[in-house]
Amino acid sequence: MYKILKEEGRAKRAELATVHGTIQTPVFMNVGTAAAIKGAVSTMDLQQIKTQVELSNTYHLHLRPGDELIKRMGGLHKFMVWDKPILTDSGGFQVFSLAKLRKIKEEGVYFNSHIDGRRIFMGPEESMQIQSNLASTITMGFDECPSSVADRAYVQASVDRTARWLLRCKKKMTELNSREDTINRHQLLFGINQGAIYSDIRIEHAKKISEMDLDGYAVGGLAVGETHEQMYEILDEVVPYLPRNKPVYLMGVGTPANILEGVERGVDFFDCVYPSRNGRHGHVYTDQGHLNLFNAQYKMDAAPIEDGCQCPACRHYSRAYIHHLLKAKEMLGMRLCVLHNLYYYNTMMEEIRDALDEGCFASYKRKKLDGFSQNS
Ligand code: GUN
Ligand code: ZN
Repeated sequence: MYKILKEEGRAKRAELATVHGTIQTPVFMNVGTAAAIKGAVSTMDLQQIKTQVELSNTYHLHLRPGDELIKRMGGLHKFMVWDKPILTDSGGFQVFSLAKLRKIKEEGVYFNSHIDGRRIFMGPEESMQIQSNLASTITMGFDECPSSVADRAYVQASVDRTARWLLRCKKKMTELNSREDTINRHQLLFGINQGAIYSDIRIEHAKKISEMDLDGYAVGGLAVGETHEQMYEILDEVVPYLPRNKPVYLMGVGTPANILEGVERGVDFFDCVYPSRNGRHGHVYTDQGHLNLFNAQYKMDAAPIEDGCQCPACRHYSRAYIHHLLKAKEMLGMRLCVLHNLYYYNTMMEEIRDALDEGCFASYKRKKLDGFSQNS
């Protein structure tokens, strides 16, 4: 059950009740693709850094260790020791970005595993079966994410097929949720809007999937090479055609500034590898823009990454110490940076929700963006 608590322009402060607890939105989901948050961050750590939703991937977990193994281990929640919501991406996107020798057919996609080259078939029914075995809270429809440089005719044909795939996903999910041997019989299904940079194709697709009465809707195929301005324009055009009374998820986005712009345009859910990927490179976020702790200027800096930050890194350690760990290639250096970054993102989402609650999101956003521009 999704409930809007407060609105400011198109921005929504809402909550989504699930079997694994209620998600307060806008929310940033913390990415653990292969049931592991990169940077040696455990689910125990996630409990300390305000994480609401963990995100894992159908494609990766199907290849290794296998979704049937995870089902036998009691599902992904039990396997990775996390009792809050988990969203699983459908595998569609990763089949297109990672797999080798792909062949797309009406029934689904044939591809070779990027791990051992094994030939695999995945279509809408297989993706739903895998996500049901994982027993995540929210599943995503199986989609093709056409290249941002694909021609119009290709994009139209691809989007039409993705819409047909989504109907098959819904049918399969309904069947799986009615089976007695299904671990989570209340799995939710979100559909994904595609259409590259062609707004009329996206709008037509958004209208079509909105009629399918799914639990939520995602905007996919963004942050794949278009400019930030183009992405904001697409959101301005497409989000109004998605049901207002359902959550909206902007997939794979983005920087703190991208998130603020997304919230303004009505987005509830975000996810991105930036905080963990950048943290592993010593790149950390602050309200005054980002810093690179590898930089020699932090060698004797006794301050925490960010003054006042209550994350596990800033509560105890100096920039100088973390700089040393990074230079010495100690895993702890990366880990502290990743913990700070995830905490930074999760805290920003909390501030966004508070600002929306108080009706001052517009001024909060302006202040935050001004701060970032001091040092970026
Ligand atoms: N993650 C980021 N973008 C996408 C997308 O377009 N589709 C899917 N399934 N996952 C994504
Ligand atoms: Zn911190």
